Amino acid sequence: MTTVIKTIPEWVATRNSLGTNTVGFVPTMGALHQGHLDLMIKAKAENDIVAVSIFVNPTQFNNKEDLAAYPVTFESDLEKLSSSGVDYLFYPQYEDLYPDQYRYKITEDSFSKTLCGQYRPGHFDGVLTVVMKLLNIIRANKAYFGEKDYQQYILIKDMVSSFFMETEIVGCPIVRDDNGLALSSRNIRLSEAGKKLATKFANLLKQKNVTAADIQSEGITVEYLEEVRNRRFAAVKIDGVRLIDNIELDR
Ligand code: PAF
Repeated sequence: MTTVIKTIPEWVATRNSLGTNTVGFVPTMGALHQGHLDLMIKAKAENDIVAVSIFVNPTQFNNKEDLAAYPVTFESDLEKLSSSGVDYLFYPQYEDLYPDQYRYKITEDSFSKTLCGQYRPGHFDGVLTVVMKLLNIIRANKAYFGEKDYQQYILIKDMVSSFFMETEIVGCPIVRDDNGLALSSRNIRLSEAGKKLATKFANLLKQKNVTAADIQSEGITVEYLEEVRNRRFAAVKIDGVRLIDNIELDR
């Protein structure tokens, strides 16, 4: 059974009672899928205790409709956590994490302004700020992030190193379904036809020399397709749902 902890003082008392046990932490926004569960499995293999957080962080949504449409599946999430052997779920409210009403924030001035950052103003400020807060509260030995959000993973890793934070940031490979579609909480919002298009997008992304026009010609709206840091990154819209993906380039 996963113990649900709703307040910071309750977590602090729990954390203090854990003594020298190591803690692996997986921050999430819920709507858990196999990609998240793989992070938890790795956390369990590498630590004595696993803590997961579920918090749909409003400061990272530049678009109100996107926030309102974000899937919330608390009961089934809790079942998945329990059956994955997760020890603690930290489940705070906005007021707990933002007593300052977001007057203070973490901003990165370079990489965060590229790729997704160009199209989602303020998004990475929201992500970095909430992750800084969560890492300071949880005091984990290691925290696990999926490489589907590769830009997020790099920005968090660099933030932790820039601010001399003690948690080790671990990146984990993208988890895909049998047809190659990267697992995402947003996939729930796709129609059957949308899912087929999303799969087409994932497979086109792997093709050598693929262009935005190639993806667009399938009826998919491309926000960006760019190659940096030896990876190809793309964001598209299908059924009004924003999807991102990336692959490593072998050169
Ligand atoms: O990747 C996510 O689910 C979120 O951006 C995170 C890291 C939990 C911060 O809200």
